[in-house]
Amino acid sequence: MSKEIVVSGIRSTGYLHLGNYFGAIRNYVKMQEEYNCYFFVADYHSLTTHPDPKDLKANVYRVVAENVACGLDPEKVALYAQSDVPEIPELYLMLNMMAYKGELEKVPTFKDKVRQQPENVNAGLLTYPVLMAADIMIHRAVKVPVGKDQEQHIEMTRNFAQRFNNRYGELFPEPQAFNYGSTLVKVPSLDGTGKMSKSENGNATLYLADSDELIRKKVMKAKTDSGPTEPNSEMPEYIQNIFFLMELVSKSDVTESFRRAYNECTIRYGDMKKQIAEDMVSFIRPKREQIEYLLANEEGLKKILRNGAEKARESAMKTITEARKLIGINYY
Ligand code: TRP
Repeated sequence: MSKEIVVSGIRSTGYLHLGNYFGAIRNYVKMQEEYNCYFFVADYHSLTTHPDPKDLKANVYRVVAENVACGLDPEKVALYAQSDVPEIPELYLMLNMMAYKGELEKVPTFKDKVRQQPENVNAGLLTYPVLMAADIMIHRAVKVPVGKDQEQHIEMTRNFAQRFNNRYGELFPEPQAFNYGSTLVKVPSLDGTGKMSKSENGNATLYLADSDELIRKKVMKAKTDSGPTEPNSEMPEYIQNIFFLMELVSKSDVTESFRRAYNECTIRYGDMKKQIAEDMVSFIRPKREQIEYLLANEEGLKKILRNGAEKARESAMKTITEARKLIGINYY
């Protein structure tokens, strides 16, 4: 039996952090064993905010290096740049004829952007969900691993697929957002508020690019207090958070002993943070070194991208040929 098709896009903004790793990449790495996966760097999507042309290449290389260093195997999945697959913008153009201004203007992510950057409300921003639908439909994917904030885009993709099928004939399956269920991990930030994030609080977020020293420094600054005074007291959220971080990277008996110490009011947060810092360093260092190693070998990265594009285009060309035929574009 052929494997189900999975597509997901990775935005090329900034450096990867622990939240990205546990929230998304780790799931990609699991999925590559069971599904026929197409993972791409969403470089066209990034043009909506007019990035400096000088930065684009480095950003794309970094995304590839980070994902491969975290375990994505370019032999098992198609790992490619969106802009290397011209069939995507072609399908995007076709789908734009079935996407209505009214529905696009209502999309929450669009409304957010209008608020954030009123000076740059371009048509690419408005039709972002159409391009995303093309990304997914070009491989006739059925599963799309994404965060909660993207589910509405997947719903729109289903609508576009239906509209195409109704008008021109059955070609596209209706994709579902892939929910990782209990494995969907939100990594809390080190300052006790919210989760690790690219844009906010850089000092409360651990990046895979952080040096050992920087990791230690950030962890040691994590918010704690002078400790519980009553046995078995309830943990404040920022203490739950550091236990959560510890559970991600430390051995379970180590975590357990600190839990016991908490319940017995003998916990020393300084020691706990030292332990977390060292285990974080052991966790992040090999990934950071592997990213650096991959980035130093540009030929290797190019080869990954070229092979990925080849695999992606093979599948994309089949879809676009069918779509053209159904629409009536086959003149000779
Ligand atoms: N919009 C997604 C995000 O912001 C990225 C993305 C672009 C994507 N195209 C996609 C995700 C196709 C899944 C499938 O994270």
